[in-house]
Amino acid sequence: MPRRRIYLDNAATSFPKPPEVLEAMVRYATDVGVSPGRGAYAEVREADRIVRECRELICRLMHGADPDHVIFTLNATDALNLAIKGLVSPHRRRGEPVHLVTTWMDHNSVLRPYHALRTDGAQVTHLGGDPRTGTVTPDQVDRAIRADTRVVAVVHGSNVTGAIQPIAEIGAVCRRRGVPLLVDAAQTLGHCPVNVEHDDIDLLAFPGHKGLLGPLGTGGLYIRPGLEARLDPLREGGTGSNSEQDVQPAVLPDKYEPGSPNAIGIAGLAAGVRWILDRGVETLRAHEANLVGIILDAIDATPGVRVLGPAGAEARCGVVAITVDGMTPEEVSATLDRDFGVLTRSGLHCAPGAHRMMNTTEGGGATRLSVGPFLTADDARHVADAVHKLGSRTLEGAGA
Ligand SMILES: Cc1ncc(COP(=O)(O)O)c(C=O)c1O
Repeated sequence: MPRRRIYLDNAATSFPKPPEVLEAMVRYATDVGVSPGRGAYAEVREADRIVRECRELICRLMHGADPDHVIFTLNATDALNLAIKGLVSPHRRRGEPVHLVTTWMDHNSVLRPYHALRTDGAQVTHLGGDPRTGTVTPDQVDRAIRADTRVVAVVHGSNVTGAIQPIAEIGAVCRRRGVPLLVDAAQTLGHCPVNVEHDDIDLLAFPGHKGLLGPLGTGGLYIRPGLEARLDPLREGGTGSNSEQDVQPAVLPDKYEPGSPNAIGIAGLAAGVRWILDRGVETLRAHEANLVGIILDAIDATPGVRVLGPAGAEARCGVVAITVDGMTPEEVSATLDRDFGVLTRSGLHCAPGAHRMMNTTEGGGATRLSVGPFLTADDARHVADAVHKLGSRTLEGAGA
């Protein structure tokens, strides 16, 4: 096994994390330890402060209006389920028709909840996009919206092509048509600037464990103030507040956060987001775009290697998916790991529609390389060199 190991699977979960993340979690576990919102002693007040601070930091990062509208969830999937099913539920209760819009570039964490609702009678429109990038146009969204459309869900940055959707323009359309826009920021929050107020984003679902550099088991949903009146909770239970009432409290965040939270994870997440804010998300974005540029340049110069998605680094998040002539994606990943110490993810990436659009389903998908803030330009050159050698080897093997 080569000594140098380069982790390029940050789209699955980021690694490594800043040391401050582990320190914050160890401090929580050793010095605080208690369940937030349950009691009035000093340790509970400190736990409450940490959880509150995490909401404030995340709200600042996405330019939200109110930290209490940042709801903690298990991961992005949990947040997307809350948003989609919570918006549909009041219409179901009233026996009203339900129409849902999304794109074929979206992840199974949107496609599968939509499918489940469809088997229950909802109608679904999937938007196809540009054949090279998968991006949709605001006009397509406008034409898809109907009087009974309850939500438009769009992935911000594709976890397959890396392509960034024109979210601000889509947001303007949805706002004008009065339909909530749910953005899946699983590949963008922490990597790219996100501004929910400016871009008319009503709901933003995000993982805590990817771009925000927190631990696995963290995520969240931002809910635009006012929208909570139309969004049912998926779970009811103890909140440490209004315990005499039979009904779930209407106040946020309690409405959507029954049960003891993952406070240790949230402590780590707060440290991750602080690390990002201290450096500036624009700086991190520029760093990752530079890494992606180095990798793309090498691939462009390699016959037999195809890169999916937009041509340059600017139009994509930190994701580069490739196919190599004469090799399955699994073989590409295995060779990159064994011979070059480069760790990648092959297959359909839980986004079957995106692979259908890119015509990569038959070949078993693609091999995804996804960068993070701790990779250096030297690492990116090593990766670029590895992909170049791989492509050249298969060409030699084919006798070209
Ligand atoms: C675009 C996209 N959406 C949603 C998810 C789901 O995120 P999580 O694993 O936090 O549930 C992922 C994760 O791979 C993703 O890439």
